[in-house]
Amino acid sequence: MTLMIFSTIFAYLAGSIPTAVWYGKIFHGVDVRQHGSGNAGATNSLRTLGKKAGIIVLIVDFLKGFLAVKAACLFSTETDSILPLIMGLAVIAGHIFPIFAQFRGGKGVATAMGVLVATFPWAALGCMVVFMIIVFATKYVSLGSILGALAFPIQLTFNLWNDYADKYAIGFAWLIFIILAVMHRQNIQRLLKGTESKFGAKK
Ligand code: G3P
Repeated sequence: MTLMIFSTIFAYLAGSIPTAVWYGKIFHGVDVRQHGSGNAGATNSLRTLGKKAGIIVLIVDFLKGFLAVKAACLFSTETDSILPLIMGLAVIAGHIFPIFAQFRGGKGVATAMGVLVATFPWAALGCMVVFMIIVFATKYVSLGSILGALAFPIQLTFNLWNDYADKYAIGFAWLIFIILAVMHRQNIQRLLKGTESKFGAKK
């Protein structure tokens, strides 16, 4: 129990590293949250600060999720096999509500992808394929993120890859999808109104 509490706090703090905010402030003197979509994530860093910023933020945010879960796997045993799932949720929560950036972070997509790759790599690959098809077809990163996230619980629920996902993992997958969908609520409204910005377009 003590291990779980400390690990969860550690994962939350790791997720709280506000890559986009710090990168923008240090290298561009800009708070990315005051530009574009206002999101402290890779897409808005790309939109606001350029390609290099977008790629670096994407990689670091991905690694936060991936490494937090991998660290959990080192400590988890048969009896606490839900530890990686809990740490995965904690690192995503840290990214969305970072203690180091006034609790205003990103939408969790890159960090969630790191968590997915570390927990269910085949399902993660499926999510990436869905994401890329949607973004390629529509140029909407947000739509790709939402439908890519939806592909995660669907794949686990229907056991498409023989991942042996138990009820906790399936619940975890649906929870991640719900969190990401809620975080994209303003994007959904803009998509419905036809005002969402497309990939490559400046806002
Ligand atoms: O990763 C977040 C992405 O899905 C949408 O970002 O900046 O267009 O709201 P943004």
